[in-house]
Amino acid sequence: MLRRAGAYIRKALPRKTCAIISDKNVAPLFADGVTKSLVSAGFRPILITIPAGEKSKTLAQAGVICDQMIGAGLDRKSFVIGLGGGVIGDISGFVAAIYHRGVPHVQIPTTLLAMVDSSIGGKTGVNTRDGKNLLGAIHHPSLVIDDIDVLKTLPRREFNQGFAEIIKHAIIADAKMFGTLQRWKAADAAALQRLIRRNIEIKAKIVAKDERDQTGERALLNFGHTVSHAIERAGEYRKFLHGEALSLGIIPACAISIKKAGLSSDQREEVVELLQRFELPTRLPPNFPRQKIVEALKFDKKFEGGKVRFVVTPKIGVARLTSTVTLSDIREAVETL
Ligand SMILES: NC(=O)c1ccc[n+]([C@@H]2O[C@H](COP(=O)([O-])OP(=O)(O)OC[C@H]3O[C@@H](n4cnc5c(N)ncnc54)[C@H](O)[C@@H]3O)[C@@H](O)[C@H]2O)c1
Ligand SMILES: [Zn+2]
Repeated sequence: MLRRAGAYIRKALPRKTCAIISDKNVAPLFADGVTKSLVSAGFRPILITIPAGEKSKTLAQAGVICDQMIGAGLDRKSFVIGLGGGVIGDISGFVAAIYHRGVPHVQIPTTLLAMVDSSIGGKTGVNTRDGKNLLGAIHHPSLVIDDIDVLKTLPRREFNQGFAEIIKHAIIADAKMFGTLQRWKAADAAALQRLIRRNIEIKAKIVAKDERDQTGERALLNFGHTVSHAIERAGEYRKFLHGEALSLGIIPACAISIKKAGLSSDQREEVVELLQRFELPTRLPPNFPRQKIVEALKFDKKFEGGKVRFVVTPKIGVARLTSTVTLSDIREAVETL
């Protein structure tokens, strides 16, 4: 599909100039092929490469990208392509949202996490000194191109972390997919393709019902994330990948679901086993600063009067929001992690 990217984009966008934004790991692998394909489809692309990793997702870096685009003469009739993982998707989408007050965005995700989650739903943005994703815009991509062949070069740890979001989708919306994952065998390309497609459907359907986070439907996608964000913060965004922190966050979310929503402990066990099947962490390392997790929880803007809007699952495949969960419920669940 990458070789045909130009043709796909030509159908979606009758424009000429564009910026391909990528990172230092991904660009050497795929930027050449994408550029050639764009040129042969009649586009005039420029390539902008930024350092890889979360530390690049800043307003300053977005400014540098914009300056390069302005320097290259890209105007409001141009567009932006993000070629990379979730970091590239988020920052390139943010640039697309603000460049000349908004130009179209094409996502070419190259990580499993980006394919099943971050490239869908239109959330774009950058981090600030005080927290993740504090600046951003909703800017949906005009086109998303998922070529599963690009995943062959993805390091195993990065590949596995994508399964944390997939397992989350299964828990909140699809018991059948949960079963498929329990029987999962690696290296079946057709099954992986079906799995990615199903995850896109789940996320797109939820987002379509509540694009702007107003009814609570979209918040269901945050299952496991209250604690995982606190773990990421407590680990100073270095200890765990996003998906690994999510895996850890799902465990207390299940414990709280047992207490507040009637989840069976058998199903909690099934969740733990499934996460482990994909080599995801389900226990904190003994020396991890647990107290910092609780402190970081208080940063969570969703806390109101000691209570938080928390996503629980009464059984695998179903999720709902509750406002009966207190900080001490979460503290208790984190202590057993
Ligand atoms: N917008 C959303 O809705 C949303 C949802 C979930 C996560 N996110 C964001 O996504 C980011 C995490 O995304 P990620 O895990 O994809 O991180 P990432 O973009 O940092 O990619 C992970 C690593 O893999 C490398 N890489 C990417 N594709 C590769 C390939 N095909 N072969 C070899 N190496 C490759 C990258 O260079 C990087 O080092 C976070 O910033 C998170 O906040 C956003
Ligand atoms: Zn997530």
